Amino acid sequence: MAKMRIGILTSGGDCPGLNATIRGVAKATYETFGDKVEIVGIHDGYHGLIHCDYKIMSPSDFSGILTTGGTILGTKRTPYKMMQIIEDDNVDKVKEMKMTYRDLKLDCLFTLGGNGTHKTANMLSEEGLNVIGLPKTIDNDIFGTDVTFGFHSAVDIGTEVIDRIHTTANSHSRIMVIEIMGNKAGWLTLYSGIAGGADIILIPEIPYDIDKVTKACQKRADAGKDFSIIAVAEGAYDVEEAKMKKKERAQSRADSGIVTATTRIAKEIEAKTGLETRTVVPGHILRGGSPSAYDRVLATQFGAHAAKLLKEEKFGFTVAMVDGKITENPLKDVAMKTKFVPENHQLVKTARAIGISFGD
Ligand code: F6P
Repeated sequence: MAKMRIGILTSGGDCPGLNATIRGVAKATYETFGDKVEIVGIHDGYHGLIHCDYKIMSPSDFSGILTTGGTILGTKRTPYKMMQIIEDDNVDKVKEMKMTYRDLKLDCLFTLGGNGTHKTANMLSEEGLNVIGLPKTIDNDIFGTDVTFGFHSAVDIGTEVIDRIHTTANSHSRIMVIEIMGNKAGWLTLYSGIAGGADIILIPEIPYDIDKVTKACQKRADAGKDFSIIAVAEGAYDVEEAKMKKKERAQSRADSGIVTATTRIAKEIEAKTGLETRTVVPGHILRGGSPSAYDRVLATQFGAHAAKLLKEEKFGFTVAMVDGKITENPLKDVAMKTKFVPENHQLVKTARAIGISFGD
């Protein structure tokens, strides 16, 4: 009898915990189906599915990867909005993905990724493929799940960055503006900002007023605290920019010659207060290295649950944690949505309660 065949891919930006999740899925799948299953690793996410780039995996491929960063399968960004567009290479991406799935005789495809990955996963599911998603991203912005794997590792790294900046900020009596990844949602900045003891936290969900930001720095300086730590989400913008459309905002920044919020905030603080200011951009360091213990546990839980969905032939779902329980959501319910930080989220309230400014 032919073996059951399962495809697995990782798509979008990498993060700690991808390998731990791949391992969780694989181990639980082998445990459930024994030698009746074969796992096919698709290289570089949907790009590999389009171009039929894959490797037949063996159980040993999944050993020793619990603690390793990155993804053994490789990953690429293959934007959802381009999936249905035929580009210069004349490749019909959707058709090719479906063809690879059929040619490889897959019975199911596990897709590990963030919002973009989930949109394509949902599309493939609607096209008739058996798809099960797993929610990955350091941004923690996938709708319908309390948490995504990769997020807490990045929080730990972001916290360490802020800790290290604290001592140098203190020594030099400087304002340090630290840019934390997160273009749309401010979860990572909020969590690492609180954990690292930032004085000001700026996130896209709460547009800032630069005068309020400078006042908060000045107030600290006047009180004898001659340094301040500002944690800024990559995608933060001010109250004026909040009135603009995304494209307009990008154009206005390009025209001003200062593209990032971080650089602009630092320049404005220095100009308005005279306080010496520096910027720090940890960037992809936030996504590198070994997953935290929390993420290893979460990845294993998510992986095992994905194998359970496979056993139950419950396709068109993505694994989730809801109110602390591991469960699943229909892909169609989460695919086109983003989980933002609610303005009245309890962590925002906690931060305000201890005097952290959001620049509003
Ligand atoms: O989606 C995760 C993320 O790290 C975002 O926080 C960030 O805006 C983006 O990816 C960076 O993407 P890239 O690695 O493609 O530059």
